[in-house]
Amino acid sequence: MTGKTPLYNRLTEHNRLNRSSFHTPGHKCSGFFDGGIISLDYTELPDTDTLYEANDVILETEIRAAELFGASRSLISAGGCSLAIQAMLNIASERGKKLLCARNAHRSAVNAIALLGMEPVWISPDGGDGFTGRISPKEVEEMLSNHRDITACYITSPSYYGEISDIPAISEICHRHGVVLLVDNAHGSHLAFMRDNMHPISNGADMSACSLHKTLPVLTGGALLNIANPALAKNAKEAMSLFGSTSPSYIIMSSIDLCVDYMFGEGKKAYAECEKRVKVLKFLAESRGIRQPRGLCDPLRITLNTASVGLFGEEQVRYFEEHGIDCEFCDGENAVFICTPFNSDQDFERLERAIKELPIRNCIESKKIFAENPIKKLSVREAMLSMSETVSTEESIGRIAANTACPCPPGIPLIMPGEIISMEIAEKLSELGIKEVRVIK
Ligand SMILES: Cc1ncc(COP(=O)(O)O)c(C=O)c1O
Repeated sequence: MTGKTPLYNRLTEHNRLNRSSFHTPGHKCSGFFDGGIISLDYTELPDTDTLYEANDVILETEIRAAELFGASRSLISAGGCSLAIQAMLNIASERGKKLLCARNAHRSAVNAIALLGMEPVWISPDGGDGFTGRISPKEVEEMLSNHRDITACYITSPSYYGEISDIPAISEICHRHGVVLLVDNAHGSHLAFMRDNMHPISNGADMSACSLHKTLPVLTGGALLNIANPALAKNAKEAMSLFGSTSPSYIIMSSIDLCVDYMFGEGKKAYAECEKRVKVLKFLAESRGIRQPRGLCDPLRITLNTASVGLFGEEQVRYFEEHGIDCEFCDGENAVFICTPFNSDQDFERLERAIKELPIRNCIESKKIFAENPIKKLSVREAMLSMSETVSTEESIGRIAANTACPCPPGIPLIMPGEIISMEIAEKLSELGIKEVRVIK
């Protein structure tokens, strides 16, 4: 070995900094997994089962996971929630290609839509309070009444900022129209273990893609496709294998197994305790006048619009850094913190101090996240598979987008493939630091 290991060195250095992790993964590198798990980096062997033809221990783990989440079938993904989303859309596309799709879809969904040749009809979240907002059941009703050939509805809930859509109401509407409800629950796997079970599968979704690693103690890349509606489970493995690696990590998969066991045992209590702890911090922020998303929200995610009390830009990012905190997301205006029981007392003390000491000044006006109704010129598939080139955001005005242009996080595309980039959108992209865009040649 030469010692020239830049990535490994950087991670080791970061680890030594002893900073408080309020980002993914949910286990927070806290020691939930001992080093021994590395020695289990096996592959498909006669006695270790095969992910896409599971009939032994992987299937057993999936059955236990399904029981834990109240699903009729759960499929393990070692390719993150992205793979679960691709599989979910692939399953849905067998019923029809037209999809009512929330515009805050993650890029993995947009990619799958292109590859599967699906035809999205976009619906925007309501942008409530300057955060992402929720999908309105009333709008779902209107869209499904106006587009009778839609066969599936795809929404992201919780949003990156923790806002939870009214899944029971949306589910009732979808089912009345003969439409299946698919939920990107990437950020909400833990919702099954809150005081009120807010997990989409328990609230009427037909399928949900859950990024276990984001909020539960699972290694990065570990996710589940949870299927409530048994009719959709039939070809689910084939649907996932179309997009998945043939070398799924056994370390990641076994971390899911360990997590499921933990959540059947002491995990539930630990998450319930964490919910109480976070509630106190949310109250503290509220008492100081720091704006947070209102309405039904993820109990373990704290989103602070620090701009509402005059802390923004570089100063905001530095502020949390100086308090020893790595947040999930700081855009100079909103700061997002993912809390789990694997945060230490010291982590929570730091966050409490940061909220208590936040300087209260004059409010600045929030940026609006969504541009209004861009004009569509090509289908997502046509646009993504056409010849394209990268141009500066300034030069992109009037051109057709060949890809999503998406501040990531929070992963909300401002422009979808096939849409015309208006001046307003180009300005918003520049504001969000996106300097180049991929456009059709
Ligand atoms: C809303 C949303 N969906 C899906 C994903 C993809 O999840 P994963 O990173 O597990 O593939 C993300 C990732 O951040 C996300 O924010």
